[in-house]
Formats: sequence, C-alpha cells, structure tokens
Amino acid sequence: MAQVNIDGINLAFDDTGSGRPVILLHGYPFNRTLWDDQVSALKDHFRVITPDLRGFGESDTSEEPTTIARMAQDVARLMDALDIQRSTIGGLSMGGYVVLSFYKQFAERVDALVLADTRPQPDTEEGKQLRLKQREQILRYGMAETAHAMLPKLLTPENISTRPDLVKRIHDMIMGTKPAGAAAALMAMASREDQTELLPKIAVPTLIVVGREDPLTPVGDSQLMHERIADSRLVVLEDAAHVSNFEQAKSFNGLLRSFVAKLK
Ligand code: MLT
Repeated sequence: MAQVNIDGINLAFDDTGSGRPVILLHGYPFNRTLWDDQVSALKDHFRVITPDLRGFGESDTSEEPTTIARMAQDVARLMDALDIQRSTIGGLSMGGYVVLSFYKQFAERVDALVLADTRPQPDTEEGKQLRLKQREQILRYGMAETAHAMLPKLLTPENISTRPDLVKRIHDMIMGTKPAGAAAALMAMASREDQTELLPKIAVPTLIVVGREDPLTPVGDSQLMHERIADSRLVVLEDAAHVSNFEQAKSFNGLLRSFVAKLK
C-alpha cells in the first residue's frame, strides 16, 4: 500500500503492474480490495491503480463535508502524484458516480471509461431521506446493521447460499469501514449531481457492465447510459446482483482485459 497526501488527507492506494494505466474506484461501503480479482487478472499486462476513496479503507476521513466531485478531484491529484496524464477510469456504483464526475471535470485526462453497476441519475427525495436515516444509525450503532441490510442487495440469493467466501469478503469490507467515513459518503451521494446530461458528451470508449439481478442500480440504468453514450458497449452478467465484479469475477475480468487491450 502507498499513500499520497492531498491537502492534509492521506489517500491510500495500490499501484500494481506496469503499462497502460487503469484506475478502478470502489463502491459504498467498500474499499480498494473490492478490485483484488481484477488487479490479479490485469497486472501482468497493465498498471492497475486502486485507491481507497476518502473516508474508506486506509484513507483518512476529512473533517469537512465531502462530495462526489471532491472524490473525483482526489483521483486527479493522485494521477498528478503518479505522473499519469491520462488513464482508463472505472468504478462500481458509488465509484461510477465518481467516474462520471471525473469525466465532467477532467475529460481530457480520460482515454476510456468503465461503468459497473452504477447510474447517472441523482437520488430521489425518498432516497435522500433514507441516506439520512442510515447515516444516523451508522454514527450511533456502527456498521453491523448496514452489513446485514445490504447483503441481500449486493449478492444474488444463490451466491449468498453457495458462496460463503464472497459473503465473508463483503461482510468484512463493510465491517472494516469507518462509521465517520461511511456517514460522509452517504451525504456526498445524497447531494450528488445529475449526470444524465453528461452522457451524450462522453466521447471515449465506454464499457458498461451490470448484474442481471442488480436491485440497487438495475439493468435499466445501464441501458440508459448505453443509449446515450455513443461509443459504448453494454454487457449484462447473468447470476450477478450489485457487485458483479465479485460474483462473476472471471467474466468481468475477461471483459475488462479485452476492453483495455483494444484501446488505441
Ligand atoms: C454502492 O454500491 O456504491 C452503493 O450502493 C451506491 C448507492 O448507495 O447509491
């Protein structure tokens, strides 16, 4: 693990392999190890950079409220520190929100996008209220209830009953998340911008992947992104819910590897 200091916040990241850079951003409430399978699969051909977004994993949590736009600025600062001008940038769910914000702010630094189990729309009013409730509960009681409530939305029922390894990895990641960091990210997600208008402006190759049974960012959201992003490919993975890169790691890795290998 390496670290970079961004205005007083230490951001932890792994930088593995060499060659064309690929930056992968985790979802909520996870950390950079969400991408372990992808790092293993890509590292012999590419340079894979996986940060812990601020508030998560081994990165610091900022005192002041954070935003999705700020998380994207952190990624740009990390690229500066690593002397990377342009990169492929991918993210799952909240990571995808950060990817879209990154493109909006720094399009010239992106050569391709990967949008996994994510969506461009902001929260509904009801969604925002749920975030506030979840935030209060996390700050009061910690992450256990969130882990319990989220699990059936993250993995398919089949994977929950037959893949104890996946259940444990997800559970451990959520329980390892700092309540203050999760609380800050909930506020950031609740106040995130609508990126629907950005989609037709995306002018780089884009791979969109979603689990067929994703209840949090359903297939329709990915279809919308595919319809509006000109140079995009949509792949719906069977037998996967929200963390499709975990549940169908082999297929996900194959897609990612061939997508990046074909980039000019
Ligand atoms: C995630 O996986 O990052 C979250 O489910 C996204 C969200 O809550 O909107």
